[in-house]
Amino acid sequence: MILLKNATVVNAGGMQQTDVLTDGEIITRIAPNIECFGAEVIDCDGKLVFPGFIDMHCHLREPGQTHKEDIRSGSLAALAGGYTTVCCMPNTDPPIDNGGAVAYIRKRSAECGNADVLPVGCITRGQKGEELAEFGHMKAQGAIAVSDDGLPVDSGAVMLNALKYAKTFGLTLLSHSEDKSISGNGVVNAGENATASGLRGIPKAAESAAVARDVLLAEEAGARLHVCHVSTAESVDIIRQAKKRGVKVTCETCPHYFAATDDEILSYNTNAKINPPLRGERDVDAIVQGIADGTIDVIATDHAPHHFDEKNKEFDYAPFGTVGLETAFSVAYTRLVLTETIKLSDLCRLMSAAPASILGLTDRGRIEVGARADMVIVDPDDEYTVDTAYFKSKGKNSLFDGWRLNGSVVGVIVKGEKKQI
Ligand code: DOR
Ligand code: ZN
Ligand code: ZN
Repeated sequence: MILLKNATVVNAGGMQQTDVLTDGEIITRIAPNIECFGAEVIDCDGKLVFPGFIDMHCHLREPGQTHKEDIRSGSLAALAGGYTTVCCMPNTDPPIDNGGAVAYIRKRSAECGNADVLPVGCITRGQKGEELAEFGHMKAQGAIAVSDDGLPVDSGAVMLNALKYAKTFGLTLLSHSEDKSISGNGVVNAGENATASGLRGIPKAAESAAVARDVLLAEEAGARLHVCHVSTAESVDIIRQAKKRGVKVTCETCPHYFAATDDEILSYNTNAKINPPLRGERDVDAIVQGIADGTIDVIATDHAPHHFDEKNKEFDYAPFGTVGLETAFSVAYTRLVLTETIKLSDLCRLMSAAPASILGLTDRGRIEVGARADMVIVDPDDEYTVDTAYFKSKGKNSLFDGWRLNGSVVGVIVKGEKKQI
């Protein structure tokens, strides 16, 4: 039993000053001045308590690339960032495209006992974009969604079929929307900074045109579509219009798309090499606007750990991706809440409630009697400098290394158990 005293509880619906009691795996009482003998008391005076954050998009690299990350290090990094549930993408080696591989991730998650790791299964076998993977078997073994993330599904016909199958099996399809014939071998956002740096550009239409296609295919199939890592003004507009017409589309962005521009690549910092690429100021403003008006449903991390040696290369040869699990909350709190762009309850919606609802995780995403006792305690007054040396993740490739941020995670409770962070 854990008793949180004097907590400022943040739910998507609003805030409340109260005590919270857990018993076993669930929250059993929410009221002021709870007395409970035998409970472990945590004084939360001056702290914020959110439902545990849910990252619906991260890369944990197991199986096959465990020099970059594994389920243990990734789920520990998740806890350090306040995440109690994370969904790992299947672009592993081999890809998670069958029931056995899905079961393996579930087993590793249970063995590690850190944040709950829910596997996303592939859309196509081997992520080859040709035949559909075994949606039914993967779902039966505990796949939470399907995605070929890391790669787009090039063929519109395969994507349409995938959306129809995902609907049949009640799986959310998470789309990495990219037209590879447009992005080609580009490495940064096409524009002034690409020209100035001499690095090959990726036009924004590589994303926006693919988002438009995928939205139209979901509309045709009557299926649910979740668009990953939205980074352009045009993508936001397409999704805003689609939502107005009643298309069942949701989307996410990541901290790096609202907190940084492609100015970061001018120093040839390979941690700023991310796909989709960091964009210009106009796009960053549109992403912030999309978050503020609710077009963007979720903040996910796209945590993409890579080994130091892989990132320590010429820009062209370094892999895409930045880690994000251990900085997402602070970046969002600093850049969105402290700037008064959104409220704390909106942040709770973006990082807990909306991902839970999109993924059908009905037992979490809110602090309520009967809900799973997954909670994160945050000190809103702490200010610190990001130092990747202290990361739990094996990936030190953080775009935010050295950034000054506000708000830190000071405690995490998963299924009623206090975790070491
Ligand atoms: O930056 C990225 N990293 N974008 C992706 O699509 C894949 C990811 C990865 O797996 O490293
Ligand atoms: Zn992706
Ligand atoms: Zn990804």
